[in-house]
Amino acid sequence: MNEQIILVTGGSRGIGRSICLTLAERGCTVLFTYLSSADKALSLIAEIDALNGGRAYGYQCDMSDLKQVQALAARFRKEHGRLSGLVNNAGILGDGKPFLMGNDDNWWNVMRTNVGSVTNTCRIMLPLFIAQRRGRIINMTSISGQKGNAGQSAYSASKSAIVTFSKTLAKEVTRFGISVNCVSPGLIETDMTADVPDEYVASRLTNMPMKRKGNVEEVANLVAYLLCDAPNYMVGQELTIDGGLAIS
Ligand SMILES: NC(=O)c1ccc[n+]([C@@H]2O[C@H](COP(=O)([O-])OP(=O)(O)OC[C@H]3O[C@@H](n4cnc5c(N)ncnc54)[C@H](OP(=O)(O)O)[C@@H]3O)[C@@H](O)[C@H]2O)c1
Repeated sequence: MNEQIILVTGGSRGIGRSICLTLAERGCTVLFTYLSSADKALSLIAEIDALNGGRAYGYQCDMSDLKQVQALAARFRKEHGRLSGLVNNAGILGDGKPFLMGNDDNWWNVMRTNVGSVTNTCRIMLPLFIAQRRGRIINMTSISGQKGNAGQSAYSASKSAIVTFSKTLAKEVTRFGISVNCVSPGLIETDMTADVPDEYVASRLTNMPMKRKGNVEEVANLVAYLLCDAPNYMVGQELTIDGGLAIS
């Protein structure tokens, strides 16, 4: 694990933050991005420094903007030289409105942010992985992308698009020693789910086998497993971690 250098997009808060901490505890060097939470990025770096594990480096970058991702990759090449893995975690939920009540710009902003941030990093980082003949890519999806969710048409569509994109990429790049898989969380306790209406949450919790929200560490441990321990033979999969929400 000591030699691993992992890029985590959207590392400043929530699931991404926990992934950064978990990887650093395992001795990985963590490069993470954020959009606007500079203060949270700094405190994460300080927290990771205090762990005496791997180092962390934070970068402000709008991952939905290809030019910014290109500039970021140029910095990575200069400062770190190589990359072992990529976690495409950055994402937004959108305004929660039914499709016909929402605005078209907001709808496409969710699609551009969620899908564009994944395709941008893959477009820019894959040549490096191919040259290295190794690399692991984990794309964060959602059970909303499997089942659809009222008030989340763009979000759900974006997450199912990421699954098919990931399967396609797996067909194209596995032969270069690169693995592409997805992690699909259910309802996880973060800022993203803080505004989800209480009645919605209560109805989901009542019916699901585990009867609680997941925590960020549970998702982070699965991502770390896929990056560091999972067999190479696992290709193009979407692993659901949801306390049984999808089967309820
Ligand atoms: N929470 C859940 O229940 C749940 C369930 C299923 C899937 N997921 C997925 O898991 C991932 C993380 O979710 P979360 O709940 O941890 O979200 P969160 O707490 O809202 O954190 C989102 C992270 O993404 C970053 N981000 C957003 N847009 C960005 C952009 N354009 N460029 C760079 N960074 C950007 C944010 O940076 P700033 O701090 O700078 O804003 C933040 O670090 C998302 O892909 C989400 O769809 C979450």
